[in-house]
Amino acid sequence: MPIIAPSLLAADFTKLGEAIDLINRSEADWLHVDVMDGVFVPNISFGEPVMKPLKKVCTKPFDVHLMIVEPDRYLQYFKDLGADVLTVHYEACTHLHRTIGGIKELGMKAAVSLNPGTPVSLLEDVISELDMVLIMSVNPGFGGQKFIENTYAKVAKLRAMADKINPELIIEIDGGVNLENAPKLVAAGATALVAGSSVFKAENPEAVISGLKKA
Ligand code: DX5
Ligand code: ZN
Repeated sequence: MPIIAPSLLAADFTKLGEAIDLINRSEADWLHVDVMDGVFVPNISFGEPVMKPLKKVCTKPFDVHLMIVEPDRYLQYFKDLGADVLTVHYEACTHLHRTIGGIKELGMKAAVSLNPGTPVSLLEDVISELDMVLIMSVNPGFGGQKFIENTYAKVAKLRAMADKINPELIIEIDGGVNLENAPKLVAAGATALVAGSSVFKAENPEAVISGLKKA
């Protein structure tokens, strides 16, 4: 069964406590936390003032997706804010191998994310070091965008590469994931699904999380 990581970005920010209660009682495995700096991506989301209090009440691990430039400056910072899985973008790292090592030394799961325009082949020399690869199925920066169909082929390529070098690799998909495309993503080799709008904008978010879990 895939790991399900609902994205906090799509929650009602006037009711964040309720969103965390929902995550805690649902079948969600992780809480996906999107950090945007307005430089790497056009949007600015949130940071410490939101994450710190939520870490105290959330019983699920934090899957932190850094959409920021120079993520090396903030590895310890996000460890201290409770990140369990820390994802940096391939496109934001000059010394990717060093960054991955830094994340693991701090005791977090290390993940690298690829934008839709970045091929999976570029990860060949670091894939053995990684706990997870996050494939973006929309251009990062905003929730609620349309899923890019080429993602299936990309997942299959990465799965084939991982099976040879690092079969335990978690392959997470982020952007426009819903009950319709989730089974196809899992069939292609995805093992973790992020879902923002499809969960939090639904009538019954818990039922959507259960449905995704069965994908
Ligand atoms: C987009 C973020 C996503 C976003 C997903 O840049 O990385 O995690 O919250 O939202 P949906 O599921 O609505 O596309
Ligand atoms: Zn994300």
